[in-house]
Amino acid sequence: MSFTLTDHLGPVDAGAALRADVRAGLTATPKTLPPTWFYDARGSELFDEITRLPEYYPTRAERSILAAHADEVAVLSGADTLVELGSGTSEKTQLLLESLTTAGTLRRFVPFDVDASVLRHAGQVIGERFPDLAVDAVVGDFTEHLGKLPHEGTRLVAFLGSTIGNLEPGPRAAFLADVGAMLDPGDWFLLGTDLVKDTGRLVTAYDDAAGVTATFNKNVLAVVDRELDADADLDAFEHVALWDPENSWIEMRLRSVRDQVVHIGALDLDVPFAAGEDLRTEVSTKFTVEGVEAELAAAGLRVAECWTDPDGDFALTLATP
Ligand code: AVJ
Repeated sequence: MSFTLTDHLGPVDAGAALRADVRAGLTATPKTLPPTWFYDARGSELFDEITRLPEYYPTRAERSILAAHADEVAVLSGADTLVELGSGTSEKTQLLLESLTTAGTLRRFVPFDVDASVLRHAGQVIGERFPDLAVDAVVGDFTEHLGKLPHEGTRLVAFLGSTIGNLEPGPRAAFLADVGAMLDPGDWFLLGTDLVKDTGRLVTAYDDAAGVTATFNKNVLAVVDRELDADADLDAFEHVALWDPENSWIEMRLRSVRDQVVHIGALDLDVPFAAGEDLRTEVSTKFTVEGVEAELAAAGLRVAECWTDPDGDFALTLATP
């Protein structure tokens, strides 16, 4: 087996991007931080833990769809290259790799993520299980570095886990247009999207009883403290998850429990928080099947198949230019 790792987000780039995002987000009203920065090694581990929580249904729902339909995806696509955007541990992706290997077409797997450590680990696990596969991992940000992905062969680009839900409508349309533009006729896009459902279940999925999601949310402050020499006290913020029906998304926020000033050494910046003031750390959009099809069509992608799990919680859509 062969493994390569290409980093488009080296320490210099990543450091500059983090500084720019933190300065822009924490001097804005209301305050925001992009969810990208959750995923250092600890954040990736915490997210992996979230996917096993009883309240967090999306991962299990998507896995059940893949278990039922990965063979069809493999046969329909005939892909020799599987590119996975925001791949993380690539745990569910193994179902696709298995089906594509059985179909006999697959040669290469390109996992793409912001966290190099999770890519190294996933690369090792997958290399052992699929010894004939070339694993070429790429470190990058899927909203910026799509142009760096390989162009050869018949590609299946998978974007699973409803990670697309992190993007607001404008950036989401721009991202989908980039995906549509990067794919050639005969290539495929496989998109996982969480669906609108009962508000109680949605909120509980982002506010679990064991507090793992709260720890994950606060990890972004730990990243800022460590990387930017800041002094945010994680105990001075509380985890908040709420449903916004207007925007059809779950918001995660960190609510300041008191009046306080966070000093960010690397930016020479003091950030005042009033008691009860929120810092928005993530939006997680929930979709309808019709909405997904319309957004893909606007990006020049035609839906070939769309599958949901038996409870209708999650959708997996296969589209092509
Ligand atoms: C990885 C973006 C799909 O929005 O459900 C899980 C991240 N945040 N719990 C999601 C997340 C809090 C997750 N995505």
